[in-house]
This record gives sequence, structure tokens and C-alpha cells, in this order.
Amino acid sequence: MVAAGAAAHSDHGREVAKTLLLAAESPDSGYTIKDINKLKKVAIFPGSFDPITNGHIDIIERCNHLFDEIIIAIAFNPEKKGLFTLEERLEMIRNIYGNHKNIIIDSFEGLLVDYARKMGAKIIIRGLRAISDFEYEFQMALMNRRLDDKIETIFMMPHEKYSYVSSRLIKEVFQFGGSIQGLVSPIVEKKLREKFGNKINK
Ligand SMILES: Nc1ncnc2c1ncn2[C@@H]1O[C@H](COP(=O)(O)OP(=O)(O)OP(=O)(O)O)[C@@H](O)[C@H]1O
Ligand SMILES: [Mg+2]
Repeated sequence: MVAAGAAAHSDHGREVAKTLLLAAESPDSGYTIKDINKLKKVAIFPGSFDPITNGHIDIIERCNHLFDEIIIAIAFNPEKKGLFTLEERLEMIRNIYGNHKNIIIDSFEGLLVDYARKMGAKIIIRGLRAISDFEYEFQMALMNRRLDDKIETIFMMPHEKYSYVSSRLIKEVFQFGGSIQGLVSPIVEKKLREKFGNKINK
């Protein structure tokens, strides 16, 4: 039986691959994260996440079905001051995804392709909200390809209900007392309240 045989064979293949991966992941295996990631489909989702919104989360959830591992990577630029510190941004994301084994939460400085190479990742995920995102994203993707043509950028579309959500807009609306309920996680709303003071958005 060709089909069943083929299925059994590929199941066996998957089991062997899983065993090898587990062996490589053991702390004394001598393999680095880069070696291990080369065996998996690892994608990096870079951004400023200042703060993480439900738009970001929507993209992460969609990617969760597609890749073995997702690295949420905060691009850190010491010269660009955001609302939240790097540590605060990491903490909010850890709060949401801290116990997902296949989601890594990290930050990086410098070129994204250098970071991707260091992590053994070959895929960059970006979200596309509307035409307004397209030009900038297109430029970045082509520049990154020029820097390393073995790393591909993949674009994901969010659910329509998040297609207008950005970190900047969330901060703007919240600080003037508008409701952002349903657009960010409760933990993010709490942190925003702490940042802007308890007076607003009670
Ligand atoms: N609502 C959303 N839907 C789809 N993609 C999104 C959404 N929000 C952010 N992204 C994508 O997530 C990635 C990281 O974006 P980033 O952290 O800069 O968020 P941002 O909302 O664009 O922030 P800012 O308003 O500060 O520019 C980008 O590819 C961006 O297009
Ligand atoms: Mg943006």
C-alpha cells in the first residue's frame, strides 16, 4: 500500500527528527541555539512593541500555526525614547506569552539580519495593515534581502477588526481618555494606566 506506507514512513521520520531535536536541546549536547534553530522553522517577529497590541497578538497567533518557533524581538534603539522602557515592554510580552514553549521573547540592537543569522532564523514576519504600511515595509524587506538574500520576509494580514490598530494610536487615544478596551490585553491597559496616572480612564 503505497499511500499508507508513505504515511507510516513519514511519521517515523518525524519521530526520529523529534528525538534528535530533543537530544540537541539538552543543555550538555554542545549545540548552540543557532544549530538547533537551523533544524526548525524559526521566524522572527521584530518591532518596537511600545506597547504590544492585539494587532501584534493577532499576527503572532496566525504564525503560531505556521512555524515551529517564533521569536518576538524588540528592536532596541537607545536613541529613540519610547513610552515604555525596554524592560517594561519585555515584561508585558512575557506576561502574555511567558509560558508558551515555542515563543521566545527577546530584544536586539543593530541590523535585523545580523540578529536573524545569530539566532539561526531564516524568516522575518511583518504585519500589513493597509496600503500605508506597504511602502515602508516593501523598502525594508528589499533592503534586508539585499543584506542577506537567504532570509525571507513574510507578510501577514490581521483580522479586519485590528487593521487600524497601532501602538501610537493606542497611546494617543488612551492619554486623552478614550477607550482602548478590546484593542490591548488587560495587562497592557493596566501598564498604560500606571504610566499616564490613575486619573484617566477609570
Ligand atoms: N494592528 C496590526 N495589524 C497588523 N500588523 C501590525 C499591527 N500592529 C503592528 N503590526 C505590525 O507589527 C510589526 C511591528 O510593529 P511595531 O511594533 O512598530 O508596531 P506599530 O503598531 O506599527 O507601532 P508604532 O505605532 O509605534 O509605529 C510591523 O510589521 C507592523 O506592521
Ligand atoms: Mg509602526
